[in-house]
Amino acid sequence: MDQTKTRKKLIEVALPLDAINAASAREKSIRHGHPSTLHLWWARRPLAAARAVLFAQLVDDPSDLPEEFPTEEEQKKERDRLFEIIEELVLWENTTNEIVLEKARAEIRKSWRRTCADNCNHPRAAELFDPEKLPAFHDPFAGGGAIPLEAQRLGLESYASDLNPVAVLINKAMIEIPPKFGELYTLLRKIQPVVGNPLSVVTNRRSSRCANFHCASFRIPCDGQEGNVFVGKYYYVLSTCA
Ligand SMILES: C[S@@+](CC[C@H](N)C(=O)[O-])C[C@H]1O[C@@H](n2cnc3c(N)ncnc32)[C@H](O)[C@@H]1O
Repeated sequence: MDQTKTRKKLIEVALPLDAINAASAREKSIRHGHPSTLHLWWARRPLAAARAVLFAQLVDDPSDLPEEFPTEEEQKKERDRLFEIIEELVLWENTTNEIVLEKARAEIRKSWRRTCADNCNHPRAAELFDPEKLPAFHDPFAGGGAIPLEAQRLGLESYASDLNPVAVLINKAMIEIPPKFGELYTLLRKIQPVVGNPLSVVTNRRSSRCANFHCASFRIPCDGQEGNVFVGKYYYVLSTCA
């Protein structure tokens, strides 16, 4: 018997469809920075719709929170507040706006903590309902990857799989590889005061392999050893420690 207690989610009650539709339609004309510019995918879902739908599936609807919102009027006011978050969240300009994203993530965490409290007596509560750890997300038919990408953006540990190897490659490029470069980005910010603008060091070629790519290499500390950093105009590649 399933002993899990769940509250009604926002998506089961209402969504600000006009805002989601408008943002989804507008995305079709975005030609810079959108995953559609990475690779063609036939049934690609708009990022705005994926982001809104994920948010609304993870956040409780106020009608099922009588202890916090006892009257219909209070419930509507709270729902309107959540709609405002969605309306901001779906805008293309806010795709990397950490203030807007963090507001949405905070609502998701709040609903998750409520779920954990509701299920604290569940026989597997310690494993399944840790208020400090959001559940991981898996899209087994990920295709162009819009849904796992947005799940990751909303703070979930995200997994994608697909029968089609092209889809797997797209998802690797969007969901698996970029987070690894977060560390490299931090590292490059640290070395920037030393090397200055990457363009200014282009002539400092130290290996033929590197020269082919028209970039410079540096030896820098890496996990207690030394590693090569290759710096170019449009890309940064970190070799293994050696
Ligand atoms: C409609 S697409 C998914 C679109 C995706 N949600 C997006 O946003 O781009 C369905 C995907 O399911 C995959 N698929 C179909 N049968 C599958 C199976 N048995 N196992 C894994 N993936 C499968 C297809 O390769 C296709 O990429």
